[in-house]
Amino acid sequence: MPNAFYKDLIVYQIWPRSFCDSNGDGIGDLGGIISKLDYIKDLGANAIWFSPLYPSPNHDYGYDIADYMDISPDYGTLEEFKTLLNEAHSRGMKIIMDLVINHTSNEHKWFLESKKSKDNPYHDYYFWRDGKKGGKKPPNNWKSTFAGPGWSYDENLNQWYLHLFADEQPDLNMDNPKVREEVKKIMRFWLDMGVDGFREDVITFISKKEGLPNGFPIPVACGIEHYKKGPHLHEYLMEFKNDVLSQYDCFTVGEAPMMTPKLALEFISEGKNQTLDMMFHFQHMQADCMITDFIQRPFKLKKYKSAMSSWQTELYGKGWNALYLENHDHPRIISRYGNDEKYRVESGKMLAVSYLCLGGTPFIYQGQEIGMTSIKLPEIEMYEDVSTKNVYKMARSFGLSHERVMSLAKRASRDNARTPVQWDDGKNAGFTSAEKPWFHINPNYEQVNVANDRENPDSIWSFYKKLISLRKANPVFTYGNYKEYMKDSDDLYVYERCLDGKKLFVICSFTEKQVIFEAPEGIELNSGELLISNYKYPALSNNRFKTKPYEARVYLFG
Ligand code: NOJ
Repeated sequence: MPNAFYKDLIVYQIWPRSFCDSNGDGIGDLGGIISKLDYIKDLGANAIWFSPLYPSPNHDYGYDIADYMDISPDYGTLEEFKTLLNEAHSRGMKIIMDLVINHTSNEHKWFLESKKSKDNPYHDYYFWRDGKKGGKKPPNNWKSTFAGPGWSYDENLNQWYLHLFADEQPDLNMDNPKVREEVKKIMRFWLDMGVDGFREDVITFISKKEGLPNGFPIPVACGIEHYKKGPHLHEYLMEFKNDVLSQYDCFTVGEAPMMTPKLALEFISEGKNQTLDMMFHFQHMQADCMITDFIQRPFKLKKYKSAMSSWQTELYGKGWNALYLENHDHPRIISRYGNDEKYRVESGKMLAVSYLCLGGTPFIYQGQEIGMTSIKLPEIEMYEDVSTKNVYKMARSFGLSHERVMSLAKRASRDNARTPVQWDDGKNAGFTSAEKPWFHINPNYEQVNVANDRENPDSIWSFYKKLISLRKANPVFTYGNYKEYMKDSDDLYVYERCLDGKKLFVICSFTEKQVIFEAPEGIELNSGELLISNYKYPALSNNRFKTKPYEARVYLFG
């Protein structure tokens, strides 16, 4: 496969509101980001993905966009953004923007126009439909992904508009060629400015089945079978590629809920039919839950392994993987797949090894590199996230007790990942000089913070930095083929990667229990170089050892 530039990137994701505040208003901003570019570079990342920076009424914190071609005054100005872009490029870093085109904000001018009258030129930018039963019932039974109805009523028009997410996020009608032209304008606007690509928000939802038929009746995201990979998806993505993306040296990563490797290859197989460079799938994020983070079950390592393995093997030589464990939509990974109490550091390092030794382009979410953990807020009033609030209401209406729903929210809420980055052990964790930050700071900031971690050679941060530099120095990490061992183990994730006579051998224990690891036939651990490990004196005798809690080792042969 050709070595496109995006294959060698290590991408750092910034969720701007909680990254770093430079002007003392309690909200992260562009000045804060500029002040931390050297920090990101020092970690070893060479690209940044910005969650939305655009003006937004923030019903879904930036994912409800009111103007695609400007910067939110909360974060700064377009001029400041250009400075940031230059500063990043001068450090050899790429920048990708979040492209949220499945829906806009209900305060976007297109939507405000569209609701003025049925013959307004913008009316057909959205899915406006007459209701059933004399107009008083929604046009179909679709439900929002955030729990609650998928339609909202407008009295003035006596019509309903579709929203797959919050009420304030009306879906764009991508079947309207004018809407697609608007999307292309937005893409060109940022690409002409010099950005290097896009992370495309729920991009696989942009085409809906004609006639919007009723969906299989489920309480959340009912109707999804009619839009999760709609009839014109491929065609529209191809149009964006041919008319815009192919004319720039840029890359795309598409967010793709419910994606499988087989389906993904329809979009990311390298060649003339390719429409996206890589995809964020969700399969490995469901090792402790089903469909959504709120439907919880005990963590099963085999689920994590089989998701990782199928994407590694099925895409190899055909399409490119996007690797991630955290983002702004999921609780912190140590609090899910690791142990955030007794073994935060050990399990944080092991989780890093488990995915940073795989093939693809890795993404690291702000704070992941210091092992930030979920905040687990105790009261529903303390939450900001619209999906948590909606799920709370829905679950209570189904009869679940307050305590039960709160225990789900503490584990599943997206707010767990949205607490301000903990920079030091000073006031407000060094995030802001304001009296009050916009959101709660995790009380563990006195121990868990960037300043501590950067000083300490044994910290999670130092471990990430070392692992990233090993990855950059050894192409086998990025390009090697993949083979999994010990598939039946409930405790160990073991795999190898091979390229040009080099072999990486990776062992990760997902338990605090001691497990006896015996090297498989043909692997002589003694003859390999132990590249990195999360314990100081790794034992080994007769090609076997007893694992320490959450132990991880990476050997290099050849
Ligand atoms: C996925 C984004 O990552 C999430 O934060 C957002 O709420 C939905 N798409 C809707 O835009």
